[in-house]
Parts: sequence; C-alpha cells; structure tokens
Amino acid sequence: MIGGVASSTDWSWEKLGYVDRIMRLFAADLAAERPASGGGDVHFPRALARAVISHYSSPGDRVLDPFAGWGTTLVVAEQLGRSAVGVELLPERSAAIAQQVGPSTVVHTADARDLGTLHLGEIDLCFTSPPYMTAVGHPQNPLTGYATLDGDYRTYLTRADRCAHRRG
Ligand SMILES: C[S@@+](CC[C@H](N)C(=O)[O-])C[C@H]1O[C@@H](n2cnc3c(N)ncnc32)[C@H](O)[C@@H]1O
Repeated sequence: MIGGVASSTDWSWEKLGYVDRIMRLFAADLAAERPASGGGDVHFPRALARAVISHYSSPGDRVLDPFAGWGTTLVVAEQLGRSAVGVELLPERSAAIAQQVGPSTVVHTADARDLGTLHLGEIDLCFTSPPYMTAVGHPQNPLTGYATLDGDYRTYLTRADRCAHRRG
C-alpha cells in the first residue's frame, strides 16, 4: 500500500506523472487480476502495462507482446486505442486472450523464436515479460513452456535476446 490508499482505483491516474504511475503498483491489484488458470507462472499488473504503453506509444500505434501470457499487454493496449499483436506458445493461453479482446487484436499461437516468419508488420512498441528461469538448477526450459528438460541459462538468454531483434 502506498500513500494511504488501498488500490489503484483510489486516485486519479490522469494527474500522475510517469514515475508516479509506476510507483502506484499494488500487490493487491496483482493478486486481484491473477488469472484463474495462473498456476505457478507470473503475469504483470494492468497498471504497469497502462503506464508503459501510454507513456511510450500513441493511439493508433502497434504494440507487440511476443510472450503474451494471459494477455495483459494486449488487453490494455486495446483499451488505450492501440493496435495490438501477441505471440503465445501455449494454445490454451492464446485462446483465453482471444476471449478478452476484439477482432482487431491479433494473437498468434506460435513460438516467439520464429518471430521473423510471422509477418507482424511495423511495430511501434514491444512490451513483454519473458518466461523466467534461474541461472542454476533449472532444467525446465522456459522457451518450450517448461515442457522439456533441456533448459540452459546461456542458451535461454541468447534465444530470448534474439526474439527481441527479429522483425518480419
Ligand atoms: C511471464 S509469462 C507472460 C505473462 C504476461 N506478461 C501477462 O501479464 O499475462 C511468459 C509467457 O511466455 C510464453 N512462452 C514461453 N515460451 C514461449 C515461446 N518460445 N514463444 C512464445 N511464447 C512463449 C509462456 O507460455 C508464458 O505464457
């Protein structure tokens, strides 16, 4: 809790500057927004997506999330009048995103390592949180949705970084 208020709905978002917006991230909001099917994986709060997308892009811009998860980036981008496109490896997650967004938002059920083959068009802002792993003792491979046990931290960093540089 920050500044004596209990949630991000208790203050005027429009009056805040960028840093103040980031500071108004609440653990309670994160918990309240947690997807029912969340399991042990992580999402970020809509307030964070709102702060970043509204600060770094303009209405009409195209926002990409190559590790779309439960769709926080895409849902908020759409709410802010941006054109949103996402890539998510797990079909059940991309299906869940499709239920929350309108027809103008595109969700590819695909591997972000193949970003260059997806013809995503010109992207104005990329905002994402990749799947996570620890540097040691983590055989589950984050880039296969933890489905395989060939996790290697160095490979993970290289591959995730390559996703960020691919365009198509
Ligand atoms: C940390 S979560 C993203 C959560 C998202 N920021 C949200 O708020 O919902 C990372 C996501 O990346 C997906 N993922 C893992 N490997 C992937 C890959 N190679 N290509 C695309 N998506 C992948 C996982 O299935 C997971 O849903």
